[in-house]
Amino acid sequence: MGIEPIKLGIISTAYINRVVIPPAKASPLLEPIAVASRDEKRASDYARKWEIERAFGSYDALLADPDVEAVYISLPNHEHVPWTLRALEAGKHVLCEKPFTRHPAEIEAVWNLAESRGLQVTEAFMWRHIPQTKRFAELVAEGAIGELQFVRSLFSFAMSDQKTNVRMKPEWEGGSLMDIGTYCVNGIRLLAGEPEAAYGEQVLGGEGVDMRFSGLLRFESSVRALFYSSFETPSRKELEAIGSEGALRLHDPWHASHGGIELQRDEEKESEMFEVETSDAYLLELEDFARAIRGEKEPLLGRADALGQARTLAALYLSAEEGRSVELAEMGR
Ligand SMILES: NC(=O)c1ccc[n+]([C@@H]2O[C@H](COP(=O)([O-])OP(=O)(O)OC[C@H]3O[C@@H](n4cnc5c(N)ncnc54)[C@H](OP(=O)(O)O)[C@@H]3O)[C@@H](O)[C@H]2O)c1
Repeated sequence: MGIEPIKLGIISTAYINRVVIPPAKASPLLEPIAVASRDEKRASDYARKWEIERAFGSYDALLADPDVEAVYISLPNHEHVPWTLRALEAGKHVLCEKPFTRHPAEIEAVWNLAESRGLQVTEAFMWRHIPQTKRFAELVAEGAIGELQFVRSLFSFAMSDQKTNVRMKPEWEGGSLMDIGTYCVNGIRLLAGEPEAAYGEQVLGGEGVDMRFSGLLRFESSVRALFYSSFETPSRKELEAIGSEGALRLHDPWHASHGGIELQRDEEKESEMFEVETSDAYLLELEDFARAIRGEKEPLLGRADALGQARTLAALYLSAEEGRSVELAEMGR
């Protein structure tokens, strides 16, 4: 027997919603019933366009709707935690866009509140739900490349709307590490665990955000990882694990739209491809959230993952600001 669909409210009319609303409507596990915008007309136009029953001219008004059980928050980064806390206080479960926050104490505050109210919160790292991601991590863990030695990752694009993009404001928690480098950090942590130390360098631009960020992560094991994120480099999306017996590379790691895992034992030899079914990452993320709300499972991404992510981002930014390597232990809990 199927579960009762989760009545979902959408907080904002963000661009990202266009890939989240269709699977939310298609899934038997969810029913998007409401959308809120800071502007009443924008909300009602949007609700009409996406055929969503209820429109609210403020986020608080949506949170006051007793029929809404859960919310999807797709606000600019600096609004993630304040609106997650308000949603939890209103008794709603929360699926919040990445990056949740780079402040570990905020993760603790959010999950303490959620747990005290018996509510679910999860960070919307959709790429973690894709079968390709799971297979890649399994292959590394099973020793397909021998002992893991090194991870490298890239995520870049050339931003064409720098004057208006929400990612360009430092006070809105913008910057390339927050926006896309966060995937690289997430990928590295998936394969190598929590880092012991971080070293970062940033190239600032715009009003003072990191337009480019280069990071080095050190782990207790002998594993090391390097990543690069950029708003001013043509599109690159890479995640590669290198071990004592070869390398595993993900093609299109974050979306898997042209999926595939490449195993190369030696550059002199032909590489081998593992084909993995392609799937809608946003659908899988939404259904994981719905099942967690109905008590069928724990959400794939909970407090521990969000905390590890925030601590690593915090250490990287501190390192870039102070020009030194930062031990994760300095980040507290
Ligand atoms: N998982 C993914 O694949 C993915 C991809 C892209 C983005 N994201 C994340 O999704 C979030 C939104 O990104 P986006 O590019 O979709 O943003 P966006 O199009 O700029 O939309 C942000 C929305 O936030 C609302 N908002 C509230 N306060 C605002 C303010 N002061 N200024 C501007 N907008 C404000 C606006 O909605 P109203 O006007 O309706 O209130 C606006 O539509 C970010 O955290 C980003 O990291 C995730």
